[in-house]
Amino acid sequence: MKQVKVIIVGNGDRANCYCKLALTAPELLKVAAIVDPSERKLAEGAQRYGVPPDHCFTSVDECIRYHERHGRIADGVLNCTMDELHYETAIPFLQKGYHMLLEKPVVNNRAQLLDIQRTAEENGCLLMVCHVLRYTPFFRAIKEILLRGEIGEIIHMESSENVGVAHASNSYIRGKWNSAEKCGSSMLLAKCCHDLDLLCWLNNGTEPERVASFGGRDFLVPEKAPEGAGKRCLVDCPLADSCMYSAKSIYVLNDRFPWYSWDCIDKDYREITKEEKIESLKTFNPHGLCAYGTGSDIVDHQTLILRFKNGSTAAHTMIQGTVIPRRLMRIVGTRGEIEGSIETSKFTLYKYDFETAGYTAREIDVAAQVAESDNHAGGDDGIIRDFVSMINGGETSVSCTKIQDSILGHTCVYAADASMVKQEEIKI
Ligand SMILES: NC(=O)c1ccc[n+]([C@@H]2O[C@H](COP(=O)([O-])OP(=O)(O)OC[C@H]3O[C@@H](n4cnc5c(N)ncnc54)[C@H](O)[C@@H]3O)[C@@H](O)[C@H]2O)c1
Repeated sequence: MKQVKVIIVGNGDRANCYCKLALTAPELLKVAAIVDPSERKLAEGAQRYGVPPDHCFTSVDECIRYHERHGRIADGVLNCTMDELHYETAIPFLQKGYHMLLEKPVVNNRAQLLDIQRTAEENGCLLMVCHVLRYTPFFRAIKEILLRGEIGEIIHMESSENVGVAHASNSYIRGKWNSAEKCGSSMLLAKCCHDLDLLCWLNNGTEPERVASFGGRDFLVPEKAPEGAGKRCLVDCPLADSCMYSAKSIYVLNDRFPWYSWDCIDKDYREITKEEKIESLKTFNPHGLCAYGTGSDIVDHQTLILRFKNGSTAAHTMIQGTVIPRRLMRIVGTRGEIEGSIETSKFTLYKYDFETAGYTAREIDVAAQVAESDNHAGGDDGIIRDFVSMINGGETSVSCTKIQDSILGHTCVYAADASMVKQEEIKI
């Protein structure tokens, strides 16, 4: 396989995850250029991947102008910008014929989604969307069982995304996805475009047809704050030692998801002192605010039901702030059932038992296939390797998230959100 050269567009947390491959398998992946308006992120990336100064750009325009003067810089682009920038940062590179690995959610509306697909197709670009969960050993093993027909035809699927307290706090209550107005994504789009993608992919002998959804921001609101709660946990809250959303527990004592919590301090999070962290929580850091009064405009719970063209159905639920963080999946087929939680990397396959007229249960454990350093249960490494293989014209895996195949999940999300707002069933 030949080495694939890429331009990182948005050298943040996600770019870091995918580009571990450039450090561990440089024969497969090379970072040829970086685009990021942050001088610090540019300098960090240039040093980590050995990118020369003339290939470090502070804007997409600057990079495109370099391409126009000097010719092609790389084979593809890793577009790891924030949600609201995907469209404007993707189109110029697709128009120049760069293949692309594009972070999810692609965009928040159907017109731009189709425009991205069309631009990629017209310019001969291979475009993959970062639905990393498809690449986890857990979901791959489930997909393979379905493809072998072991549980027959799918009748119904149930999934749920239980966003644990610390993750919810870091990303959706106090973090950078806490406002659809600011980041462009609803909660369902930001978090569960993965789940809707999985439901469509697992059931891809058919297509989703109708959806209905309910949800709202009903619990993480000022009126539901515990009595006597203050505005900032470490400043004026008498409940700082007991509240489950206390900044003291999540950020000071346990430092959960530090790459998110200290983002507002313009420094590598590994170099920030405890004193600087506490001072920020007491003053300007949004993670220091009372969880019930962050001004977030996204739902804290949402549920939906989905009907596919062949009559099969699915239900999905998202809940923010659960005590146990977990993604559950249950699939009922005409000849068996599958049930498991990705966090354990184990699931159970149930089959009818002729001898007893009961059932057999076989546990399938894929934990050994998950690299410890992978934040997505093995998905990040799998997707970047598939991208390299796709550009090389090689075989892609059963998980491959080509744009043509990633559109359905997004359109289900748009329809579910519309259903929730309009309070009516929507045709997808
Ligand atoms: N696949 C997944 O499971 C998964 C998980 C988490 C996040 N995401 C998605 O990945 C994307 C990136 O998230 P992140 O946490 O890495 O963000 P980040 O904030 O860590 O990184 C974004 C980077 O983009 C840079 N940037 C800002 N404006 C830019 C511009 N105009 N051109 C180029 N770069 C620009 C920022 O300086 C920053 O370095 C988001 O869309 C997010 O929703 C996906």
